[in-house]
Amino acid sequence: MSKRRAYIRSVGRFLPERRLTNTDLERMVDTNDEWILTRTGICERRILDPGLGNSFMSVRAARECLERAGVSAKEVETIIVATVTPDRLFPATACVIQRELGAKNAWGFDLNAGCCGFLFAISTATQMIESGRSGKVLVIGSDVMSTIIDYADRNTCILFGDAAGAALLDVCPEPDHGILDFVLHTDGCGEDLLHMKAGGSRRPPSLETVENKEHYVSQEGPAVFKVAVTEMANVAARILERNGLTGSDVSLFVPHQANLRIIDAAARRMGIDNGRVVKNIMKFGNTTAATLPLCLYEAAVEKNYDIKPGDYVVMAAFGAGFTWGSALMRWWE
Ligand code: UT7
Repeated sequence: MSKRRAYIRSVGRFLPERRLTNTDLERMVDTNDEWILTRTGICERRILDPGLGNSFMSVRAARECLERAGVSAKEVETIIVATVTPDRLFPATACVIQRELGAKNAWGFDLNAGCCGFLFAISTATQMIESGRSGKVLVIGSDVMSTIIDYADRNTCILFGDAAGAALLDVCPEPDHGILDFVLHTDGCGEDLLHMKAGGSRRPPSLETVENKEHYVSQEGPAVFKVAVTEMANVAARILERNGLTGSDVSLFVPHQANLRIIDAAARRMGIDNGRVVKNIMKFGNTTAATLPLCLYEAAVEKNYDIKPGDYVVMAAFGAGFTWGSALMRWWE
């Protein structure tokens, strides 16, 4: 009997209307379009209107995802929300989303793994489905990065955008298709290189933390770049090796969108040419937990890439923690 496997049955997304372009940023900090474009690959990002919060975007992405699958919210058994920008520290944003969707039969929780959140969440969902513990799992990657960015800091404000992506994971109807393997890593030595200084239990919010701007993203860009460029490439290559595959077997590479130079280095290392790499960093910037589902959306819904059922797809990400990892799957449509 073949193994019970999970697959991504459908995807949905939400992108705020408002655009923040490189030209806009030139008016806000000492930067320029040419620097941003050549160092990161980003042209513009989306920004959510203040006060709406994570669940506003997540619910909309989830509704589209369920609608595309023809599945009602009541059929969802588990909701996992990957984010570093929840509506509130508690309760989990998954609870708000469960209520708003009317997912009466679901339990759920938030998962924080920085830019690897979506990858870690689908790994969790996959194992729930494979074990028979859960049927349909709604996995959401959603971040309102604009709420934790200092728009006077040119090192970080040019990088991030807001968005949500949702994926419905279900029992794969085809044997040997769906989600096949994961390689996942965490190394807490990265804590000081990419973090938010205050707001948690070690340094709760105070007048001082607000005045010191400690509630924003703080990143040692070049130090993070060095590790990211090596480890994202290594982990993407590793999942191929251990499954007896090479770059030429892969129809689509779906990388986290933090920097075009990191994406290109990983693709080169795997031997995958440009046309088989999903890149949307130009349009959306780094949307943290949302980058991977936004990329899957471009392939599955917008059909921007040449891919057919059964083709091998590799996803890879690197983020705060440090966290990094890759996933191998066979395309579902
Ligand atoms: O997604 C989570 C994981 N995060 C990542 O993977 C991000 C990894 N890091 C990066 O992508 C890159 O390090 C950045 C895009 C953040 C920065 O690019 P970089 O090539 O590492 O630039 P840098 O920070 O070394 O800065 C080079 C120069 C500096 O000037 P000097 O010291 O050489 O005179 C910076 O002050 O560029 C300057 N600079 C800027 N200039 C114009 C830094 N930010 C800007 C800016 N506009 N926005």
